[in-house]
Amino acid sequence: MRVGMLTGGGDCPGLNAVIRGAVRKGILHHGDEFVGFMEGWRGVLDNTTMPLNLETTSGILHKGGTILRSSRTNVKKIPGGFEKCVESIEKNKLDALIALGGDDTQSISLALSERGVKCVGVPKTIDNDLNGTDVCFGFDTAVSIATEAIDRLHSTAEAHNRVLVVEVMGRDAGWIAITSGIAGGADVILIPEVPVDIDEVCRLLKYRYDRGKKFSIVVVAEGAHLPESGQATHGTSVDAFGHVRLSGVAQALAEEIESRTKYETRSVNLGHTQRGGTPTAYDRMLATRYGVAAIDLVHAGKFGRLVVLKGTQISDIPLADAISKNRTVGDDLLEVMRSLQPPANAV
Ligand code: F6P
Repeated sequence: MRVGMLTGGGDCPGLNAVIRGAVRKGILHHGDEFVGFMEGWRGVLDNTTMPLNLETTSGILHKGGTILRSSRTNVKKIPGGFEKCVESIEKNKLDALIALGGDDTQSISLALSERGVKCVGVPKTIDNDLNGTDVCFGFDTAVSIATEAIDRLHSTAEAHNRVLVVEVMGRDAGWIAITSGIAGGADVILIPEVPVDIDEVCRLLKYRYDRGKKFSIVVVAEGAHLPESGQATHGTSVDAFGHVRLSGVAQALAEEIESRTKYETRSVNLGHTQRGGTPTAYDRMLATRYGVAAIDLVHAGKFGRLVVLKGTQISDIPLADAISKNRTVGDDLLEVMRSLQPPANAV
């Protein structure tokens, strides 16, 4: 078969491992040929491609980023966009298309599937919030990077008797914040799913301070909602999928904490460091399993589907289910977080 591949949306450690897994299984076991589209859906629209074969996918397993590059191109916003995509899929004589991406990218896969294109999706986002899969590749790497940063911030916070507010990614879901926060021993963890209660934040910090702990770590997801101002944004412009750029919640929170408690408070935004660099062994493994499963789905003729991880097993679900809603942090993890904090009546 001739199979196209693309990587769309924010990049994510493990993209190259998925590409390599699918290409190696496809060429070595099915005799497939691959075409890589450059920069997400933009490459399909413009028919800009690169060859994907054993040579071009060699030595990329451990590399961050994506050899196919990425973009947040929204085909729905381009007049005649879907027709152009179908045209370049036909020009390249493709039997199937594998798209690596989050809900925005997969919404285009679904729309193309509905137009008869044989699409298979692979779940990518460090935010880990794609519905229907227990884990997206890239998440483990982002959590490892954030946890290491929290560990490092502990020592400097302690040396200076400071509160340090650490902003991590997580637009609609606080998976990175709650996981790295618990793993890194943060004193306060704030996520988009639970509106921020500043009185409660200050209570937790004061509880520590009163017991001789003159420093604290607060981890906040970029998408957390502050009481009056809501989400902190960088400007008002939106991307092609209508998302405003989130940034600055840690700084806003740090100012509020300092003004209320008088504890010296600083903020740090980990930003894109969480998306960069080499994937963890876990992500390389998961990404490879996803890549192999994606080409297997193609050969099973199961299109309009997304490969997913359920427990420890790889499976697949309809693309429509994957983009129907975000997968948010559940009560079980919130309960773990709260179990480590003093209860509301503690003085
Ligand atoms: O892909 C998800 C994400 O990492 C979000 O957490 C964040 O809001 C967004 O990407 C930032 O994307 P970019 O850096 O591409 O603007």
